[in-house]
Amino acid sequence: MSSSQPELYIGLMSGTSMDGIDAALVDFSSTTPKLLSTHSHRWPDAIQRTLIAARDVPDDELDTLSALDMQTAELFAEACFILLEKAGHQPKNITAIGNHGQTIRHRPDIEKPFSLQIGNAQKLTKLTGVDVVSDFRTADIEAGGQGAPLAPAFHKAVFQHNDINRVIVNIGGISNITILPKDSNQPVTGFDCGPGNTLMDAWISQHQQQNYDADGALASSGKTDASLLARLLMDDYFQLAPPKSTGFEYFNLEWLDGSIDGEISVADIQSTLCDLTATSIIRAINQYAPDTEEIYICGGGVHNKELMHRLQALTKNPVATTERLGVHPDWVEAMAFAWLAYQYNHQQTGNLPSVTGASKKVILGNKTTA
Ligand SMILES: Nc1ncnc2c1ncn2[C@@H]1O[C@H](COP(=O)(O)OP(=O)(O)O)[C@@H](O)[C@H]1O
Ligand SMILES: [Mg+2]
Repeated sequence: MSSSQPELYIGLMSGTSMDGIDAALVDFSSTTPKLLSTHSHRWPDAIQRTLIAARDVPDDELDTLSALDMQTAELFAEACFILLEKAGHQPKNITAIGNHGQTIRHRPDIEKPFSLQIGNAQKLTKLTGVDVVSDFRTADIEAGGQGAPLAPAFHKAVFQHNDINRVIVNIGGISNITILPKDSNQPVTGFDCGPGNTLMDAWISQHQQQNYDADGALASSGKTDASLLARLLMDDYFQLAPPKSTGFEYFNLEWLDGSIDGEISVADIQSTLCDLTATSIIRAINQYAPDTEEIYICGGGVHNKELMHRLQALTKNPVATTERLGVHPDWVEAMAFAWLAYQYNHQQTGNLPSVTGASKKVILGNKTTA
């Protein structure tokens, strides 16, 4: 990553939490990627509701999806324009947009595996006048991988240290870890550990009509039900050896309902779910990265203070956010997709087979040229 000209990329990431469209403007012209500007774009309520419903659309109902594909692209373009305005840049200064897209289906484990993200690339290119690199997951799936997680290669590029064994944990809707050994001859590994915020969000929104448990206040007012926690942790996904990836299709309220019996208060369940996220993450680290020395968290979960306390309480390793490494925890994922577009443009590979299970390293994405 070094050249004299500025190399400006936009990364667009809208995760499974559907809390908004994250847009990050990144300069890759020096050895360390520089985050120049950020913008978090709200989904209009009606579209957010339709998107959530679209995840349950039967496979043959394509009209809704096609319309959403276009509407989503319009909102992505809007996010880019506001981002550029904040940064004082013009679209013509931008080399490419790395657009993750909004995931509607992620099915890496069926006979004909695929991962579907919407946010039409042709439309986004047309509206912004900027090249768009998108569809990052397909090439990895075609190479026999899970198509996820994809951020670990970026974590490796920016966070690996040659004297310290580090683990990066992204707590979005789902949580995923990247294990960065200090010995760079060792492979970087990583996988989805299980639920991040998704169950906590779903539970509080069902019972208190809030999108999330702000600061973990409800969880901290409750008491974890040890037997419920133990039952939840017995789920097969947690025992499955990596590579593995998961989503809201699996970890949702129906999944939870199957384990709740008897009277447990709303706050106690919130607390139990907070512990489920914390425990599944720390167990994954203890099992697959026992030599870890430092743990860094990114993603929306860093704002859940209770969750951060519980993570720290479960491990002797210091737990901090990626802020300590100079990268704001809210923007790591969007930066990763800017970086993946950069990788595509330089015809460099973007997946880590040791993470996704693919048979080889491949160049990820497709480019739609303006
Ligand atoms: N102040 C807060 N307190 C607790 N949780 C928060 C707070 N702010 C954000 N979050 C959590 O972060 C989530 C969004 O995280 P994010 O990394 O954007 O996930 P995704 O990648 O799935 O979009 C929200 O759904 C919420 O659960
Ligand atoms: Mg988000």
